[in-house]
Amino acid sequence: MRKKVGIIGGGHVGECTAMYLAEKNIADIVLVDIIEDMPKGKGLDLLQAGPLRGYDCMVVGSNDFADLKGCDIVVQTAGLPRKPGMTREDLITKNADIIKNCAEKIKQYAPNAMILMVANPLDIMTYHAYKVTGFKANKVFGQAGILDSTRFRAFVAMELGISMNDVQALVLGGHGDTMVPLPRYTTVSGIPITELISKDRIQAISNRTRDGGGEIVKLLKTGSAYYAPAAATVEMVDAVISDRKRVVPISARLTGQYGINDLYIGVPAVLGSDGVEKIIELDLGKEELDSLRKSADTYKDMLKVLGY
Ligand code: LAC
Repeated sequence: MRKKVGIIGGGHVGECTAMYLAEKNIADIVLVDIIEDMPKGKGLDLLQAGPLRGYDCMVVGSNDFADLKGCDIVVQTAGLPRKPGMTREDLITKNADIIKNCAEKIKQYAPNAMILMVANPLDIMTYHAYKVTGFKANKVFGQAGILDSTRFRAFVAMELGISMNDVQALVLGGHGDTMVPLPRYTTVSGIPITELISKDRIQAISNRTRDGGGEIVKLLKTGSAYYAPAAATVEMVDAVISDRKRVVPISARLTGQYGINDLYIGVPAVLGSDGVEKIIELDLGKEELDSLRKSADTYKDMLKVLGY
């Protein structure tokens, strides 16, 4: 039987996710949004691009959450984006109600689906969806580490004037101002960037990565990034749908790893058909571990705002 992917939210991130995913041709897609008819129009438009773009998966849009029935994974993009001057965390109370409502609908109509959270503040909203649904933690996870790492990869390639394909990077921690880019684990065809780029420049690139989402918000003025976030999301959907056992940084629930308990935060993990199949615990240096734990403390505090 064909796999089915639900995408909640027909905004820029949702529609780009649907488009990139359709081009992979690995699953049927349903795009759900509450704005009357809009997702139906986008679904139909995407479907009609199929003969030219070479995919034949079914793409439909819907205003009815019941159409999530049978989904293997649901990507939750609905939520307000930030505007210039806002942090992702400023969105907590605004997006918590939306996420609760959507999580309840997923539980009702697709109780066996996995949930891939994309709405911000990412790590907090992933925890919220985990709690609201009561789904197993390996089935609920958040996008962001891949997004932050792809930004890091792009900046390293720009710095060295080399192919982005040859750069691998690792960014851990929360998807916010406390994220932890790890130059030690960032390489160009296996060569650590610490051997290729000066300390000062690595620091500047790390800072730009940390502020990568904000840089785009400032330029767009009316919302946040969507091409790279959607591309990162599709990478994760593909890992699950195609059981690829990808080793990627994602927001996963920790149960003592890195000395952090009962919290969603960005760590490397194996992602496959059973969701988060393994969390990888790196032997971090003191400074790296301190930064990760500092990031975790910030998110623990934020969860209190939602009564957790
Ligand atoms: C970003 C937002 C979407 O990092 O969180 O671009």
